Amino acid sequence: MRLGLAGLGVGSAHFLKAVDAFPQAQVVAAADLRASARTAFEQRYHGRAYEGVEALCADPAVDVVWVATPNHLHCEHAILAAEHQKHVICTKPMAVTVEECERMCAAAERNGVELLCGQTYSMNLDIQAMHGIVSSGELGRLIAVNSWLYTDWLLKPRVAEELDESRGGGVVSRHGPHLIDTVRVLGGGNVRSVRASVGRWMPERPCAGNFSAFLEFEDGTPATIVYNGYGYFDTSELTWGIGSRMYSDEERVSVRRTLRRGTVDAEAAKEGMRFGAGAEDSTSRGSGQIRGVRDGWFGITVASCERGDVRQSPDGIYVYDAGGRHEIPVAGELYGLADLREMQACLTEGTRITHDGRWAQATLEVGTAIVRSGQERREIVLTQARQLRPA
Ligand SMILES: NC(=O)c1ccc[n+]([C@@H]2O[C@H](COP(=O)([O-])OP(=O)(O)OC[C@H]3O[C@@H](n4cnc5c(N)ncnc54)[C@H](O)[C@@H]3O)[C@@H](O)[C@H]2O)c1
Repeated sequence: MRLGLAGLGVGSAHFLKAVDAFPQAQVVAAADLRASARTAFEQRYHGRAYEGVEALCADPAVDVVWVATPNHLHCEHAILAAEHQKHVICTKPMAVTVEECERMCAAAERNGVELLCGQTYSMNLDIQAMHGIVSSGELGRLIAVNSWLYTDWLLKPRVAEELDESRGGGVVSRHGPHLIDTVRVLGGGNVRSVRASVGRWMPERPCAGNFSAFLEFEDGTPATIVYNGYGYFDTSELTWGIGSRMYSDEERVSVRRTLRRGTVDAEAAKEGMRFGAGAEDSTSRGSGQIRGVRDGWFGITVASCERGDVRQSPDGIYVYDAGGRHEIPVAGELYGLADLREMQACLTEGTRITHDGRWAQATLEVGTAIVRSGQERREIVLTQARQLRPA
């Protein structure tokens, strides 16, 4: 599988580590507006580096375009790739609006290419193992899924589009897909309705910073998602230190002070974390960083069944049942590897992509409903997210 990477930013610095660890994929080309990133790419991967995404898509050596440009460009860039008959891996969120998702799916279908919209925590092996226990029925039927993430998303360097909700900024769009996908994988996928409330409580970061959502699946199973990105309490305190936090407690104090003084140059700080600025060699400082293969956890998720519960453990998952608690070991792996594996299996063995465009479109519909429910202060009954086959 020959990859072309559209966007060489902070996210790509992480995804490339997964590509490096996946021998069946080679990254042969990339596109980025930043000359420094293109130079670093050429030096490190000896591939072609383009300034524009269209030229990347036209490169005959590229089989799959991995879209990792800012959220408001995912639709345009995924469609460009599909129109050039390239398969697409698109990072989360799939796009900004459901209508954009619809156009992306239509372009992939029209051109007969695969569209994988993943890179959410739901694809991690521990969540997949939890799904295995839940769907086996050994604990009886699923009765609830609850997921909590308190983290420091708002304290990290954030450029203009990340704070602009109309361009896919804020925590519902940026981190919501991880949690929405996770509860959807565990709950069977088809969300019937959403009641939620979204908060914007940090004046230095004028965008969605927290949300609380109650989802009901088509079969009546409830799920809750509680997200807080202000960086005070952190759920990693409850998960053996495993999590997606960037700053230590002490660093949070000084970062918050700098933010309040208004003296942060977010663009410069973010630039220092992007591919080409040394971030690809860093082991710990990226946004949503993966320090070890088990880091990158997104909070605490508990799936409750009639006769027991299941959740993540330090080395896999814990199953709580009438016999007590036992741990099932699950290997950790780099963020992004699951996407590569899924696309590779699809292209070589003809297996179905589970996190396809229609799946991610439904996730985005849930995210959109979370925002709308908060604005209108009522339950939103969904249309598309109800119709999907289970992952
Ligand atoms: N930051 C993370 O840790 C992380 C993790 C997972 C997913 N993501 C996703 O990756 C995407 C990018 O986020 P990021 O944080 O890496 O942002 P970023 O700003 O660091 O990276 C975006 C890159 O795209 C380039 N770019 C912008 N417009 C372009 C264009 N028209 N043509 C070519 N290149 C262009 C920029 O120069 C930049 O290098 C987002 O969708 C985000 O949700 C990020």
